Amino acid sequence: MAKRSSTFACQACGAVYNRWQGRCDACGGWSTIAEEAANAPLPGGITAPRGQRGKGRVFALEGLSGSTEEAPRMVSGIAELDRVTGGGFVRGSVILLGGEPGIGKSTLLMQACAAVAQAGHRVVYISGEEAVGQVRLRAERLGLAQAHVELASETNVEDIVTTLSQGKPPQLVIIDSIQTMWSEGVESAPGTVTQVRGAAQILIRHAKTSGAAVILVGHVTKDGQIAGPRVVEHMVDAVVSFEGDGAQHFRILRAMKNRFGPTDEIGVFEMTGAGLAEVSNPSALFLAGRDGNAPGTAVFAGMEGTRPLLVEFQALVAPSSLGNPRRAVVGWDPNRLSMLIAVLETHGGLRLGQYDIFLNVAGGLKIIEPSADAAAAAALVSSLTNAPLPANKVYLGEVALTGALRPAPQGSARLKEAAKLGFQSAFVPKAGFEALGSSELVLDAGSDIADLVAGIAARSPQKGTEFEPE
Ligand code: TYD
Ligand code: MG
Repeated sequence: MAKRSSTFACQACGAVYNRWQGRCDACGGWSTIAEEAANAPLPGGITAPRGQRGKGRVFALEGLSGSTEEAPRMVSGIAELDRVTGGGFVRGSVILLGGEPGIGKSTLLMQACAAVAQAGHRVVYISGEEAVGQVRLRAERLGLAQAHVELASETNVEDIVTTLSQGKPPQLVIIDSIQTMWSEGVESAPGTVTQVRGAAQILIRHAKTSGAAVILVGHVTKDGQIAGPRVVEHMVDAVVSFEGDGAQHFRILRAMKNRFGPTDEIGVFEMTGAGLAEVSNPSALFLAGRDGNAPGTAVFAGMEGTRPLLVEFQALVAPSSLGNPRRAVVGWDPNRLSMLIAVLETHGGLRLGQYDIFLNVAGGLKIIEPSADAAAAAALVSSLTNAPLPANKVYLGEVALTGALRPAPQGSARLKEAAKLGFQSAFVPKAGFEALGSSELVLDAGSDIADLVAGIAARSPQKGTEFEPE
């Protein structure tokens, strides 16, 4: 049988096929499959080519408790960034920083570079997208032109690694972006997944051998996939994504994977005229401009990692003229909303079938905690009954399919944050009530969804009408 000389790889997800096809079976993308040279040995691959064996003893085996000469972490001094990385960049590790184009990745990294360089480390910033002059211009705008960051505009990874190996080894290397990098050892066009993977492998090996922390920038597409660079996600030590709403000024840094730290911490920044500013009290930011007297808004006492975070849920429940009423959610799980509506109908005595329902988490934040159910439900009921909720009240608790309310973890930390921000009362589940201990807030405990609905409906101007639960 003739040896095949090429394979076909999906440029979106990296799946490999023997022949061309219009649609990728793995990710469902159309026209994403392109021909690439077959069996191109990835430079520095983990396994040796067939027929080659390792020599007798080529590396030293060491115990877990051995000593490492340098401090394993480098703090950037940008607290919101260090929080997400788990206390600074780990030497010899590789971080993939993903985000939509224009979100501020290069800005964030330039600020981090300057801070690390300030601490006396050698920092190299390689841009494959911008000329040195453009990068300098940004640094100037950020007021960082004096920082000792070494700049280069380069896309060939062999040249980059050779240059980095000369002189004092750098402790932090930025590659902006991995999509622009290419390796001579890979016979595919620049920008293909094979090239991205090959180039990443060389840079990762450089990080491991030199002890430098390497940050790879990867652009993501609108649907949130790290296109192309997604194929390197499993090879890197941490995947961090930089998110935000283009129209709004704040940006959220979130760890998706982290071999050296937590994945539930977020860092909050605000894009200003002079770069990214840290937001150390995000609750105040997310609640800014809140109109507490409008029906349909409820404040959730949330938790992001170790930090309590207060956010506003906004709901609009409006009579629908459609046979199939609309349900739209921003910042929350649509399945969770469907479930909550079903529970409100079955156990809360509400009829929502004839209403369009919209739910929004203010500030472009994405909430994934189940404990937000009570706040979402409160906002929905408040909008339906046209009853504004008390402006100084927070809501927390998970709603079970039985209608029962379940306690939120770390309840007392959430209540403490709410009290700090001037809230005076909280709706909490009766289950686990004792665990909350004493609180500065007036606690209103409910055992199930019907308690929550009844409490809100009692405030409704339409009291006694169809809105009042049976
Ligand atoms: P950038 O860091 O280039 O984004 P990325 O590398 O993720 O593509 O940031 C680009 C945007 O940030 C650009 O639209 C302008 C804005 N910006 C500011 O608002 N203030 C600033 O000080 C800087 C440097 C950029
Ligand atoms: Mg950029």
